[in-house]
Amino acid sequence: MCGIVGYVGWRDATDVLIDGLSKLEYRGYDSSGIAVFENEVIKVAKSKGRLTDLQNKMNQEGKPIGHAGIGHTRWATHGEPSDRNSHPHGGGNVTLVHNGIIENYKRLKEFLLSKGRVFESDTDTEVVAQLLDYYYQENHGNPMDAIIRTMQELEGSYALGIVFADFPDKVYALRKESPLIVGIGENESFIASDMTAILQYTKNYYLLEHDEIAVLSKKQVKVYDLHYQKIQKELKIADWDVSAAEKCGYEHYMLKEIHEQPTAVKTTITPRITDGLPNLEECGITPEKLMEFHKIHIVACGTAMHAGTVGKYVIEKLARIPVNVDIASEFRYREPLVSQNDLVIIISQSGETADSLAALRLAKKLGAKTLAIVNAKGSSIAREADMLIYTHAGPEIAVASTKAYMVQIAVMYLFAFELALANHAIDEQECRRLTALLQETPEKIAEILEHKEMTQLIASELITADSLLYIGRGLDYALSMEGSLKLKEISYIHSESYAAGELKHGTISLITENMPVIAIATQQKLFDKTISNIKEVKARGAKVILVCREDYTPEQDIADYKFGLPDYDDLLMPMLAVVPLQLIAYYTAVHKGTDVDKPRNLAKSVTVE
Ligand code: G6P
Repeated sequence: MCGIVGYVGWRDATDVLIDGLSKLEYRGYDSSGIAVFENEVIKVAKSKGRLTDLQNKMNQEGKPIGHAGIGHTRWATHGEPSDRNSHPHGGGNVTLVHNGIIENYKRLKEFLLSKGRVFESDTDTEVVAQLLDYYYQENHGNPMDAIIRTMQELEGSYALGIVFADFPDKVYALRKESPLIVGIGENESFIASDMTAILQYTKNYYLLEHDEIAVLSKKQVKVYDLHYQKIQKELKIADWDVSAAEKCGYEHYMLKEIHEQPTAVKTTITPRITDGLPNLEECGITPEKLMEFHKIHIVACGTAMHAGTVGKYVIEKLARIPVNVDIASEFRYREPLVSQNDLVIIISQSGETADSLAALRLAKKLGAKTLAIVNAKGSSIAREADMLIYTHAGPEIAVASTKAYMVQIAVMYLFAFELALANHAIDEQECRRLTALLQETPEKIAEILEHKEMTQLIASELITADSLLYIGRGLDYALSMEGSLKLKEISYIHSESYAAGELKHGTISLITENMPVIAIATQQKLFDKTISNIKEVKARGAKVILVCREDYTPEQDIADYKFGLPDYDDLLMPMLAVVPLQLIAYYTAVHKGTDVDKPRNLAKSVTVE
């Protein structure tokens, strides 16, 4: 979703803003813009399309030169993507950029129209700019009074970067719900939607809390609450390396992130294993606590929800506790049956997904205990949950999630092992065996990555398909959901995932020679049954791509292509089998020439519902 960057200091502000926005491109956007003080006058440049369109425009019309300004990438909500609706938006003395949604913008707009204000865009953001300017005029040019007054009127979620024409050496920033950080450098300061935007300039930052207002100047940053009281902020230091947000020789971030999976798994699980057994105590999870839960709800969106589905199979199998998996946007509005003895697990890479955050708050309100599994440090979901397990995937830039999914399922395994042991559903020896197997998965994943050529060949077969089916049973079915989503997200080829045994109850009517089927068959107990289902589609002309163990040689009436996986315990096979599925999606998109890292219409962090 929208990205914000702001700068005050000694560097060329336009360069810093454009560079920062380029690091936020992964969030998804359809237009961009900047406002920079040039000789104490605000100069705005904005354009529909990619950042390169904005840069081309500035090359033709002149690039603003100065040392303070704000920038924005917009993911359209109110009003189509266009130059006119791009941020920054202005109203008199005020120019600002916004991430989030102003829910009461219509009422505020009517008020402002009645005061004779004229609007140039269809956005809710311009309403904020005009309202802020209205109070600024009313308060005789006092920015802080005007900001506080405006915040009292706004409903919804927002992070704002603001400049006032009368104060050319300052940038103002504030947030409610939508994330915003303030970077602290030597004689310079920054604002950004996330750390990746400014990592190359500073690792020192403040995490802005709800209803806090930051005033940035070259020499200092002051933070206030809504009563204009100064707040002492804790300086945080990002532990990410600059290279974490660079492509490092890979053609796309997605490919780089797929290759980072072995390390991400190792970094995530190693600190949570003591003497061969899972130990989640540092996350606030003890065996005694785990024994209290009668039922588990896993709530998330997109890929994170798919990780939760793998979690359901594993937890139910090992710990024998019922698990519901819910889509967060459904959970929050269907009056879910959640009791005080239940555990609600929220999984989120960004920790800021609006529906997942709302689901967390609802679960807390209903009295359940909550556990967050989150990648982004200090994010809202991480801060609000009762218990927290950070995944240590590092920044994930590609919109299509790969390494974050991998570490989410790795955590699901660790959690399931510990829960099963606490409930005496497995004994210590079995828990040790499973934990040791989990510890070996990084090597297995690395092994698969070394033999990925077959996925390129398979991808070249898929590019002409209009539609595809992914099938599997049990854990393979859970995995097929993620495989299908990956392909859709980046190659724009329609696909569906289906439980292999359910196919004949309707969907098999779609099978023709033009509908390739990706069949996942890693579960030994279900293997013969899955093979029978594969034969059913093969007999109807489908081209079949089989993902199974290396030592199985399919006959011609079963598969056209096979991707072989190392032999491993059934339970952990999803961690291996997901890799070829990610690569097939990746290479299909590359062959089709789509924008792999920034697929159309998608946003990495969905901060609106
Ligand atoms: C968006 C992203 C997906 C992601 C989902 C949930 O739709 O495009 O890749 O899985 O949000 O995001 P979260 O940050 O909560 O894991």
